[in-house]
Amino acid sequence: MAEERALAMVTCTAPVNIAVIKYWGKRDNDLILPINSSLSVTLHQDQLKTTTTAAASRDFTEDRLWLNGEEADVGHPRLQACLREVSALARLYGVEGELSEVARRGSGSACRSMLGGFVQWQRGERPDGRDSLAHQVAPETHWPELRVLVLVVSGEKKQVGSTAGMQTSVDTSPLLKHRAEAVVPERLALMMRHIRERDFEGFGQLAMRDSNQFHATCLDTFPPIFYLNDLSRHIIALAHRFNAHHGRTKVAYTFDAGPNAVIFTLADTVAEFVEVVRRSFPPATNGDQFVRGLPVGAASLPEELLAAVVTEPVPGAVRYILHTKPGPGPQPVEDPSQHLLGADGLPRRCA
Ligand code: PMV
Repeated sequence: MAEERALAMVTCTAPVNIAVIKYWGKRDNDLILPINSSLSVTLHQDQLKTTTTAAASRDFTEDRLWLNGEEADVGHPRLQACLREVSALARLYGVEGELSEVARRGSGSACRSMLGGFVQWQRGERPDGRDSLAHQVAPETHWPELRVLVLVVSGEKKQVGSTAGMQTSVDTSPLLKHRAEAVVPERLALMMRHIRERDFEGFGQLAMRDSNQFHATCLDTFPPIFYLNDLSRHIIALAHRFNAHHGRTKVAYTFDAGPNAVIFTLADTVAEFVEVVRRSFPPATNGDQFVRGLPVGAASLPEELLAAVVTEPVPGAVRYILHTKPGPGPQPVEDPSQHLLGADGLPRRCA
């Protein structure tokens, strides 16, 4: 029998996270160390996930990488940093080790996706970054009623990438410096208390305020950066009208470095708010696919709510809504037929 050379292959899925206390600004660009701590909610992988297969063999003569079926440049410094960290971990610990440190070297906010539920990325103090790590604040089971609606508004690419954007903000925005030093430490402690107590009023208010302050630091950047557009502002106003009508915080928005809106709410409000969004942004063509993800029940809106909340509808402006909830961290995929690479280490299917 011919001697088989060992091929090690692992496939894993990873989630997306959405910050409710935002990270914006690095104090070390190479190590990707932030100027402030941040806190996020990991979204469920039944609705949104990435899948990665890694293969290692003595027969391989070089590192290669495919992203969505297309070969990518492994010479990129961030990718090199990740590969270096991973091979050091493998040598030292086998499969154990501080994986959020590895993820951080790829994209700062990605380190929070190494854990499920509610996750804090601690700023850390050390210049070598060994204490700038992600920690779970509460597991995904902690707040079973919490729901997330992603309002996908545009396929256009963001104008200023987060790496360039945050660097300009660090260099020019006095508001960002004040935020990192004086605002975030207090907000982080408060947000952890709201999560611990499952206090949606407190959680939602603070999430909205923190998103707004992040975008204020973008406007305070020189030259200014605009991630929100007219439609994002329309969604912000809609959320405030909805909450004002109910006399309490029933939905909370947050926006990252792009115009899509992420709405936090509780299970008992989903059907009504989805109907409000459908009436405010009547779908153009894909009416049957307007709501995706977890099922959403039917809701009929009382006349006084319609009159108070749904003003000036903008047809077709929201492409679709993805309904999801908090979920777990990365999951190994045990079924070998799900590997993205074949026994030769090359992609099985190309896009
Ligand atoms: O990790 P990056 O470089 O993609 O930066 C993400 C920054 C925000 O999404 C705007 C905020 C955050 O904390 O996720």
